[in-house]
Amino acid sequence: MQILKDPKEFQQLCLEWRAQGQRLALVPTMGAYHAGHQSLMVAAKASDARVLVSLFVNPAQFGPGEDLAAYPRTPERDAEIAGAAGVDVLFTPDPHAMYEPDHVTWVDVPALTQTLCGISRPDHFRGVCTVVLKLLLLSQAHLAIFGEKDWQQLAVIRRAARDLNVPVEIRGCPTVRETDGLALSSRNVYLTPEERAQAPQLQAGLQQARELALRGERSASALHAAARAHWAGHLPLGREEYLSLVHPHSLEHMDTLGETAVMACAVRLGKARLIDNILLS
Ligand code: PAF
Repeated sequence: MQILKDPKEFQQLCLEWRAQGQRLALVPTMGAYHAGHQSLMVAAKASDARVLVSLFVNPAQFGPGEDLAAYPRTPERDAEIAGAAGVDVLFTPDPHAMYEPDHVTWVDVPALTQTLCGISRPDHFRGVCTVVLKLLLLSQAHLAIFGEKDWQQLAVIRRAARDLNVPVEIRGCPTVRETDGLALSSRNVYLTPEERAQAPQLQAGLQQARELALRGERSASALHAAARAHWAGHLPLGREEYLSLVHPHSLEHMDTLGETAVMACAVRLGKARLIDNILLS
């Protein structure tokens, strides 16, 4: 596996591979790898492509007072994991190499980002979309792979790529969970043992809503109430930030469950802010 820091070198190599007719699959990451990241690398490998993984803790997607400095960083371990997963290139740029001091150009998708996580993190998705578009332009990848845990992120990136005619397939991969149901996240390390014990109840609450939907309930408020009732009993340390039934692609709020919808939530649990979702169809 090659480890490249310089964006120009990375782009040069990708362009050479493309010129040779090779297919390129990109997995954008911020490091601190867990089995969720590994599953994205495995999916990229299975796509019969050169596998490019970017490891960049993107300052532009952290708001003031957020955990940019504290975000877990395990670069040596990450390189071992990427190497073992058969990654061809690990791209690890420095922030100043990705953003010129007078950088002023942003990719913004307001219709999909002024809701859900965007309410408490107003500039977050602008930072995500901008860095992902930069990575797509550097790599010219045919395929880019993201986890479905960050459902809103995936929807926003899909929309930006479609609206800007970026010639890439954006693919989502299922959330990887601990055996007790907690979605894997690099930020789970912030949980105390007591918070960690309650954290799986986040998904369990969403499953209560899904069971009610399977029994025929269509009202969003009734489905929300089922999740909240479960959290009240089993997740007392959690502070709900939002819980919402939305269309999977437009992220528009739904009062009534249609053919397909996603129930998405964010809950603060001590220092951690956990997000999760469930598909209801
Ligand atoms: O999901 C992440 O880890 C990040 O938001 C991403 C997509 C790598 C952009 O920095």
